[in-house]
Amino acid sequence: MEKKIFDLEKFDIKLNTNIIGRNFFYADEVPSTNTELLNKTKFYKQHGSVLLAEKQFAGKGRKNREWYSAAEMNLTFSVLITDSKYFRKNINIINYTTSLAVALSIENLYQLRTELKWPNDVLIGRKKIAGILIESVSRGSKITRCVIGIGLNVNQTSFHGKYMLEPTSLKKELGHNVEREKTLADLLNNFEEQLESTTSASNKILDEWKSKCNMIGDRISVVTDNEIKHGIFSDINEKGFLVLRTDNKIEILTQGDVSIL
Ligand code: BTN
Repeated sequence: MEKKIFDLEKFDIKLNTNIIGRNFFYADEVPSTNTELLNKTKFYKQHGSVLLAEKQFAGKGRKNREWYSAAEMNLTFSVLITDSKYFRKNINIINYTTSLAVALSIENLYQLRTELKWPNDVLIGRKKIAGILIESVSRGSKITRCVIGIGLNVNQTSFHGKYMLEPTSLKKELGHNVEREKTLADLLNNFEEQLESTTSASNKILDEWKSKCNMIGDRISVVTDNEIKHGIFSDINEKGFLVLRTDNKIEILTQGDVSIL
């Protein structure tokens, strides 16, 4: 496995955004890029700031799980969103925007076919290539700060430990090393474009997301915090919640781990 220091100049040349990633922080090691951007409010202030870390020693996954990623091989980073115009609509749409941007970048850059898994995993051939964790801070009922954390497996080829879904990486799929700088720049370019459309065309994002979610229509089980539900994955509603058709009713699920039966 090839370890390589991130080349900021190469990244900068390919970054084509107006705001996202223009304020860029690079760290050797942090507990978690999400935790840094969420808590160090005096230091990380500017909307669109991005923090990339070569290593996280307390990387977080969804549902209080851990996120392991080999140092200097992958992309583990977070984006800070503070502009309230993105919080006016259902914040859940940011989940879809992010996973869609990651999937589209992988497809456009590397001609790999991606699939999306509710709520926000990016898969290639049923294996997980990227995970997303969105956290926010509110004052009263108002969101003041939202941090979008993305872990994309790039050049790591062996994964130890137990995983809910088998992991893969761009290198594993392509059979060669991949340039992290170009990948991150393209991803942020795509993300900014998608994020802009959340304020006006959130239905379009949801429709595009659904078209890449092959599980819709399948019989699934969903493990929520306290129970397991079975049924047909009928749809994702306009709020971004999963619509499950069980024998005698329709249930709306806000969170959970989905598996095909
Ligand atoms: C998941 O699939 O469970 C979500 C994984 C999210 C991992 C990323 S890596 C960068 C950011 N910082 C974290 O601590 N987690 C997210």
